[in-house]
Amino acid sequence: MKKSNTPQIQLDVNHMMSDIIGFQYGIDDAEVDQLSGAAQAAQQAVDKKRGTGWLGWTELPYNQAEIVNQIEEAAAYVRENFDTFVVLGIGGSALGPIAVQNALNHLRWNELEHRNGPKFYVEDNIDPDRMASLLDVIDLKRTCFNVITKSGKTAETMSQYLIISDLLKKAVGDGWQKHIIATTDMENGNLIKIGRQEGFRMFVIPDGVGGRFSELTPVGLLPAAVCGIDIRAMLEGAAAMDERCKSDDIWENPALLEAALQYLATESRHANVQVVMPYADSLKYMADWFCQLWAESLGKNKTRKGMAVNLGQTPTKALGVTDQHSQLQLYTEGPFDKVVTFIKVENFRSEIEIAHGCEEFVDVAFLGGKTLNQLIDAEQQGTEFALYQAGRMNQTIIMPVVNAHTVGQLLFFFEMATAYMGELLDIDAFNQPGVENSKIASFALLGYTADPKYTDKAKEMRDRPELVKRYIL
Ligand code: PA5
Repeated sequence: MKKSNTPQIQLDVNHMMSDIIGFQYGIDDAEVDQLSGAAQAAQQAVDKKRGTGWLGWTELPYNQAEIVNQIEEAAAYVRENFDTFVVLGIGGSALGPIAVQNALNHLRWNELEHRNGPKFYVEDNIDPDRMASLLDVIDLKRTCFNVITKSGKTAETMSQYLIISDLLKKAVGDGWQKHIIATTDMENGNLIKIGRQEGFRMFVIPDGVGGRFSELTPVGLLPAAVCGIDIRAMLEGAAAMDERCKSDDIWENPALLEAALQYLATESRHANVQVVMPYADSLKYMADWFCQLWAESLGKNKTRKGMAVNLGQTPTKALGVTDQHSQLQLYTEGPFDKVVTFIKVENFRSEIEIAHGCEEFVDVAFLGGKTLNQLIDAEQQGTEFALYQAGRMNQTIIMPVVNAHTVGQLLFFFEMATAYMGELLDIDAFNQPGVENSKIASFALLGYTADPKYTDKAKEMRDRPELVKRYIL
């Protein structure tokens, strides 16, 4: 992978530390030093397991040269033949494509008259009104659907597939299969079999890559390439971050520092919530992507040795400056249970000057001649300062610029931090058993009986205490 001169993202943790925000809630250097052995072990464990088991994603920046060619070829086919590209997927099969599209393309992409690619939609819910609305605005004959499911059997995505394939057969007739690209596991699930039967163009999610770690596979790379994003630069960015994660020294490896400080924040400061607050609309959905990664990976009820625990810092999102007018009051004066992680952009793609005017109103007029860029920067710094003065832990991820390379760095930074945090907590960061129960219960409600676990669940649901009428007003 060639070296790039693109600037590095940085993690500024000044406002996490006691020598800056005070001893009551800030973390001491001594505590970090005490954790350095465990952090070193976490980094080494992740490094040793690279590319194996569920750490297959660590090799994605390096092992996809051939796939990238195929993705670019498929993207060219879509761009030539369709006006609209729709992803059908959920969770890790949707949040990355949404985040990257929003980060790197025009914020009103679908409304642009001259776009560098088709209109783009990601349908990650099964709300019937949403599906009906989509069908109202797309022309099936001019639309390509990318059905993405790692397991190949997720009910939400497969129901969408059933609806869309039926409509395509009716609207397009022969050749409807050309309107579908499937992205799924090589062996498991139904989609791979359906795809082979129907002759869909297909991409494979490599082994060892769980849904929420799959953005740098065809899951994310194909939609990005279809919308004109430089996917090679994204992978180079990930590789550049990986390089920085080769060190087992907390003060050299930004993802290790992130994991170590969040570990100390939760374990010794009860900061059980991490608010990710980008000060850029382009990164708004990056916070959603992060929330799934952090929540599903780290929210666990047993350690790897089987000890009962209830672990996991709750990730939540806010948008700067919008949520200054909604959440900030709570962050500055509410419970000391949060870390606020700002994501700050140094150079926006646009610069907009604020016009002069309203001279008789000094508190309006002073804005004239400044730029929105200066204003958003000042508001981010102001918020950081307010949190600092209130003794609240906060940190800033600095993005010199939002481009494919820095987005690749950011994705990999969060993924590595999650893996290190899993090691520090001694939990399996790559499974999601807690999601299963609700799935089984929903299937049981729909009368699915192919396996006793569904009939048992139906019985458990029938046997739960009768709901009390007076509790429902
Ligand atoms: O991280 C995960 O594995 C999950 O969140 C999945 O991405 C999500 O459940 C969707 O699964 P699938 O891609 O198998 O349809």
